[in-house]
Amino acid sequence: MNEKILKVEDLHVDFHLGDRVIPAVDGVSFSLSKGETLGLVGESGCGKSVTALSIMRLLQMPPARITRGKILFRGENLLNKSDEDMRRIRGKDMSMIFQEPMTSLNPVLTIGYQISEVFIQHQNLSKEEALSKTIDMLELVRIPLPERVVKQYPHQLSGGMRQRVMIAVALACEPGLIIADEPTTALDVTVEAQILELINQLKSKINSSIIMISHDLGIVAEVADKVAVMYSGRIVEYGDVYSVFTEPKHPYTKGLLEAIPDIDMSRKKRLKEIRGVVPYPDEIKEGCRFKTRCDCTKEDCMVKEPPFLHVGGNLVRCWNYA
Ligand SMILES: Nc1ncnc2c1ncn2[C@@H]1O[C@H](COP(=O)(O)OP(=O)(O)O)[C@@H](O)[C@H]1O
Ligand SMILES: [Mg+2]
Repeated sequence: MNEKILKVEDLHVDFHLGDRVIPAVDGVSFSLSKGETLGLVGESGCGKSVTALSIMRLLQMPPARITRGKILFRGENLLNKSDEDMRRIRGKDMSMIFQEPMTSLNPVLTIGYQISEVFIQHQNLSKEEALSKTIDMLELVRIPLPERVVKQYPHQLSGGMRQRVMIAVALACEPGLIIADEPTTALDVTVEAQILELINQLKSKINSSIIMISHDLGIVAEVADKVAVMYSGRIVEYGDVYSVFTEPKHPYTKGLLEAIPDIDMSRKKRLKEIRGVVPYPDEIKEGCRFKTRCDCTKEDCMVKEPPFLHVGGNLVRCWNYA
């Protein structure tokens, strides 16, 4: 498990809006071993999608600008690749599953055509070979009657089936890296559970490395080996899934965990919420970014950005452990 497939080093992404510069991703580093699943969690707006899109080189630039850092995929910096190289890498070596499959599937092309294209373009298969592989893929993601589904258009499928198709597209070339950005957020809970189970089964079959992005820690717990908690453009806690869930250290991680509903919780009991809202990334100029919502701030928190500290098995950016 130790061969590193992806290393993100000190990634900085700014958005330039008029004369405002928004540091959406501000010094993010992490690495991913072969076959490992990293859960990237945090509330909406903390920089998860921008991180993912940077890795895929799908960020719109401008308004975005990658100002610092490296994205090493199998040892090569993706930030130095040409657009043509990236097109070859995407789909073949790395692929992304988005929240709303309708936006990434082409409404006027059949499901069969869209998946076959991946095989034709990246593996030089003939039309017939590609179609038969497409049917295999649809079976793999447990779509019933694949021979019929290949002739259908995206709008003829349910949301859950479309997401399975997206997963089939993403897996088609057995990429080394898959990034799933809120893949189940648009689905109802039953379908969500099925999709997560599917991802878990495929993980062991294909042995890809996965970045699972979610605002929901419960989802990450189901699939991840390691967890990175993001807050306002930074990773504030990192560790293996067991230690982050059983012994969270950062006040933000603790808050997120307390906000997960228990199955047997009575309706009356209110979920604990983290007070306040995520600050816009350029709002807090100094100190810890979480200081405006934290219950245990000290003097240092107000003025100095906390460094990463080893606490138990986790890495934590919090002055309370200094
Ligand atoms: N196209 C854009 N233009 C300006 N700001 C953006 C754009 N996309 C994202 N941002 C800002 O970057 C920050 C991180 O966004 P994002 O990565 O989408 O958050 P998440 O995926 O964690 O919900 C947010 O503050 C968001 O407003
Ligand atoms: Mg997002």
